[in-house]
Amino acid sequence: MAGKSESVTRTITVAFLVCLVCAIVVATAAVSLRPVQEKNKTLDRQINILQAAGLYQPGMDVKAAFETIDRRFVSIETGEMVEKPDSYDQRKAAKDPAENIVLDVDEDVASIKRQAKVAEVYLARNEDGSLSKIILPIHGYGLWSTLYGFIALEPDANTVAGLGFYEHAETPGLGGEVDNPKWKAQWPGKKLYDEQGDVAINVIKGTVDPAAPDAEHKVDGLAGATLTTKGVDNLVRFWVGENGFEPFLDRVRKGDLAAQSTTTDSAVALAAQ
Ligand SMILES: Cc1cc2nc3c(=O)[nH]c(=O)nc-3n(C[C@H](O)[C@H](O)[C@H](O)COP(=O)(O)O)c2cc1C
Repeated sequence: MAGKSESVTRTITVAFLVCLVCAIVVATAAVSLRPVQEKNKTLDRQINILQAAGLYQPGMDVKAAFETIDRRFVSIETGEMVEKPDSYDQRKAAKDPAENIVLDVDEDVASIKRQAKVAEVYLARNEDGSLSKIILPIHGYGLWSTLYGFIALEPDANTVAGLGFYEHAETPGLGGEVDNPKWKAQWPGKKLYDEQGDVAINVIKGTVDPAAPDAEHKVDGLAGATLTTKGVDNLVRFWVGENGFEPFLDRVRKGDLAAQSTTTDSAVALAAQ
């Protein structure tokens, strides 16, 4: 009898020790891999930014390429540059009542409910230091998911240089065609604003007639994915509109950010305007 209860105790002890050892191994692996995960996350984001701007080539030294890109912070309301620590996370700020703006239903074209008061922008430079691309984070709801991506603009703050999404859960082959290089290839050269300065970019249902007078503002929709198409149209229009980056882009267009934003000092000069 004593032998039986002793063997039960031993079994429980051994099981406990096995669990403990496994827990320690898993916890150690999770903690020690965190820096690698963070590094890969940063690298992935940098690749996405370079891709949106058309500056990415497979096999390139991403870290070196990114050294020509300044990360800056912009007040959504005023379009002015503001200071934030490197650790600033726009997606986290959008959830923090102290750091976000809650959108009215009629303003919330991208179906995001709230947005951070301060957005990040990336300014890519040419070798001579002049501004080459303005890269803006964008997001909004499609059919099944919120799509997160970047839109890159030429220094005129009107001509699109590229667009890409790095996170979404739209259906592969339908809404997921937002990742199709052929579809993305339509974006470079499109104009965001018309001659009056109003937002004119549109992702339409169907195919753009290249002979139409407003073809420079139009992008083909995704076949069989009207709802994702509408979502992308809404989110792009929201982020280049008055509740998005329009105040910042207005400053770029009216002023001379091209000259000013080429170095850290010059970006600070813009903030002082
Ligand atoms: C399984 C399944 C997945 C779908 N995924 C998408 C999607 O990712 N994006 C989308 O816009 N429509 C998707 N649809 C289609 C929509 O339900 C809807 O029919 C479509 O957006 C209408 O587009 P159309 O007018 O071009 O046919 C999906 C439909 C099914 C049955």
